Amino acid sequence: MQGKKIAIIGAGVMGKKHAQTIIKHPNTELVAVSDPYSDAMAQEFNVPNYKDLEELFNHVKLDGVVIANPNRFHVSTAIQCMQHNIPCLLEKPLAINTKEALCLIEAQQKLNVPVLVGHHRRHNKIIQQAKEIIEAGTLGTINTFNALWSVYKPDSYFDIEWHRLAGAGVLAINLVHDLDLMRYLNGEIESVQAMTSNKNRNLEVEDTISILVRFKNGALGTLLASDAAVSPWGWDQNTEENKDSFAVSPDQNCYFISGSEGALSVPNLEYWNYPKDQLKSWAVSLIKNKIEPNKEQDVYINQLTHFIEVIEHKAKPISSPEDAILNIQLLECIEQAAKNQNTVYIEQLNFLQKTA
Ligand SMILES: NC(=O)c1ccc[n+]([C@@H]2O[C@H](COP(=O)([O-])OP(=O)(O)OC[C@H]3O[C@@H](n4cnc5c(N)ncnc54)[C@H](O)[C@@H]3O)[C@@H](O)[C@H]2O)c1
Repeated sequence: MQGKKIAIIGAGVMGKKHAQTIIKHPNTELVAVSDPYSDAMAQEFNVPNYKDLEELFNHVKLDGVVIANPNRFHVSTAIQCMQHNIPCLLEKPLAINTKEALCLIEAQQKLNVPVLVGHHRRHNKIIQQAKEIIEAGTLGTINTFNALWSVYKPDSYFDIEWHRLAGAGVLAINLVHDLDLMRYLNGEIESVQAMTSNKNRNLEVEDTISILVRFKNGALGTLLASDAAVSPWGWDQNTEENKDSFAVSPDQNCYFISGSEGALSVPNLEYWNYPKDQLKSWAVSLIKNKIEPNKEQDVYINQLTHFIEVIEHKAKPISSPEDAILNIQLLECIEQAAKNQNTVYIEQLNFLQKTA
């Protein structure tokens, strides 16, 4: 197969990660970069940098782009690419708010150009394995979904001004991924409650948050997180997915899911059921089973492989704009619930009503 010609828009930390992935992937070729403020990455990878996006489109024939510029440009950049009929792998978040995200969805439905949103954890094979265990009915009807993400961000992280301000905390930056996986594994969320604390660092931004969710299927969930807590529990530490940034604690789990027939911990993929033909009772010992988690992978390579399938119309995006907007809406509802100390119900969005 001929390599897909891909350009990176936004040559920062994530742009570089994507560039390294494109270089490593056998079926993609990095052909250009577009960053108005820096030529450094283009020089490093020996490709041209077009400071103006239209210049890029005029000079290079592209099969796709990876958009990794600052969040506030995601919607306008993706629409510009779609107008040139170029499929996008758009870094998360889809947009800075639900209203903007709806504009992108409207444009995408009109232009009909594929957009894959970079919720990369969905491409982790461990998540596919956990989903298979759940979909096989091993847990029965899910009742509880308990998620943890606690880690100590170094004090120097907060030397950067915007890291200290509301909106740049553990909820928006880190937990959006956990919320996305909670939805992916157990379906949509109906309502939320939340409490935040900033007492550990005394900054404007929250350092600790507790979220309660009610899923549409009736299950209840919690997501408890802190970036000021010393702990081995969190997706990044436990899956070894992000070894460049996080020290690993591979023997620990971060998700605990239980239902009418059994329980599952993720990512070690141990699951518990009563022995067959026994009455279900708290007095009966559970049998522990295990599937070996598939950790031999590069999640960004998996994501890029999927993007190629999306470009070739062989697959629908595993994280589409219509799906990713629900994460943004969820963040907004959690912020509101924490601020007003009430239950916030997730409203159905107009585009869903239209297509329902
Ligand atoms: N998937 C993940 O886990 C993950 C992790 C970190 C960041 N991100 C996302 O990746 C994106 C980039 O984050 P980052 O940490 O690499 O930021 P960064 O600040 O390191 O890089 C942003 C780059 O975009 C460039 N830029 C600014 N305006 C631009 C424009 N109009 N067109 C093109 N380039 C422009 C800047 O010069 C900079 O090089 C963000 O949307 C962020 O949310 C995702």
